[in-house]
Amino acid sequence: MDTILVLDFGGQYCHLISRRVRDLGVFSEILPYDSNISKIMKVNPKGIILSGGPASVYENDSPMLADEVFHKLLDSRIPILGICYGHHLIIHKMKGIIKSKSQKEYGKTILYKSNSPLLLEGLGEEEIVWMSHGDQVEKLPEEFKIYAYTNTCPIASYGNEKKNLFGVQFHPEVTNTPKGNLVLENFILKIANCRKEWKLENWIENSINNIKETVADGKRVILGLSGGVDSSVTAVLLHRAIGDRLHCIFVNNGLLRKNEEQTVQKVFKEDLDFKNFHYVDAEHLFLTKLSDVTDPEDKRKIIGHSFIEVFEDETIRLEKQYPDIEFLAQGTIYPDRVETSATSKVSAKIKSHHNLTLPDDMTLIIIEPLKDLYKDEVRKIGLQLGLPERIIERHPFPGPGLAVRCIGEISKERLDTLREADHILMEEIRIAGLYKELWQVFCVYLPVKSVGIMGDFRTYDNICAIRAVESRDAMTANFAKIDWDVLEKISTRIINEVKGFNRVVYDISNKPPSTIEFE
Ligand code: XMP
Repeated sequence: MDTILVLDFGGQYCHLISRRVRDLGVFSEILPYDSNISKIMKVNPKGIILSGGPASVYENDSPMLADEVFHKLLDSRIPILGICYGHHLIIHKMKGIIKSKSQKEYGKTILYKSNSPLLLEGLGEEEIVWMSHGDQVEKLPEEFKIYAYTNTCPIASYGNEKKNLFGVQFHPEVTNTPKGNLVLENFILKIANCRKEWKLENWIENSINNIKETVADGKRVILGLSGGVDSSVTAVLLHRAIGDRLHCIFVNNGLLRKNEEQTVQKVFKEDLDFKNFHYVDAEHLFLTKLSDVTDPEDKRKIIGHSFIEVFEDETIRLEKQYPDIEFLAQGTIYPDRVETSATSKVSAKIKSHHNLTLPDDMTLIIIEPLKDLYKDEVRKIGLQLGLPERIIERHPFPGPGLAVRCIGEISKERLDTLREADHILMEEIRIAGLYKELWQVFCVYLPVKSVGIMGDFRTYDNICAIRAVESRDAMTANFAKIDWDVLEKISTRIINEVKGFNRVVYDISNKPPSTIEFE
């Protein structure tokens, strides 16, 4: 399949570039900037995009493309497009001049075309583009032409058609550059001549065939199903390929939202007719191990270890019954695997706490059918495979569940109180039509007593905090400015209907500096 390779120079937009390319119908992959030439050639790219990045080409430790790699790429004549830092890097490598500017240019600006190159075909003489840079190209090497400029940046886009090298100072991948897609499309389809082969329908068919081939001869697969989007889509895909040779293990750790275990069981056992759905009620074990534990990281460790213990026991039990179990499926998706400098912090954290780390002596073969997909692609596939929207649109839910939303000590009583309040919150958020536009929304149990008055009685009870955030990827998030009337209704219902809370507060902190979760 025709592939565009994105080399990552540390820009926050690396995954965005790759997603845009895929949206245009062409497969794309990301590799770190210091990948060697054989790794790059293994991808067999038809075009290469050098991403942006915060560094400056003249800094000692700036991410560089090794000379050997650059010259091999030049020899191969694979078209290369540099974006922002990548735009400087090409010129630096070709012995042009980059100038450091003390003042950064950040925001929307007007781009003027200086001629009509293929790269900018379809753009008007003046277009709005998004800039974010300090350095800029001052002098082009021989054979390079200026394609466009802005009032402050004389070389905002260039090309060397003979050598197949192109650059844009602005960011075509962000929506703040309204015609940015056109620039990427020109590069991918007209300059790199890629065919539009990346279609999810084809992907589904291929993936099902691959699974059938891999899991042949009556072999069976185990999958830890949490009910989240990734594991649910992995489940339906595998089920489509191998039917009831798929065994899903769903662990109720006692830290789930209200009715979660019933909802997930209903969807998979009744609606989707999964015959081998194994429900394990481990609430007692988890809550016993968590009693008296207050430190958030200790909570996470205990939950992670207990999960493995329960999952392993259930797997061993099933293996005795079904000796053909040979595979373990995981819902790993592309951003979990490819840690760009921008995502590594978040994904590393999620991985250490959430993803299953298998004991060394487990001999099952891992299969990860979604490992090349982005979340929005996973969602589309899930819908096509018949998963209900309610599962597909789910907000992320942390592996340690309500344990990190119940501050301090955890008890069944506290969790039940939190579950009731959280249930009301979700109900009202859905009624108000806000669920889809929020990234995450949840209640937090704050074990802080304050005074209230209910009828003729004074109360002395705990505080329920509401957190609702808007985000694109959880790396940054803003608190949602939910309508006061909706918040008032939620607060009134929680205080009236939930025993244990007599006060509701709304969290108005953004990330950074605050995190999304409280613990
Ligand atoms: P923070 O709180 O770091 O969260 O802003 C970012 C995203 O990660 C989720 N999160 C977790 N997910 N295990 C998980 O599986 C965890 O321990 C964990 N902690 C935070 C959080 O819900 C948000 O989507």
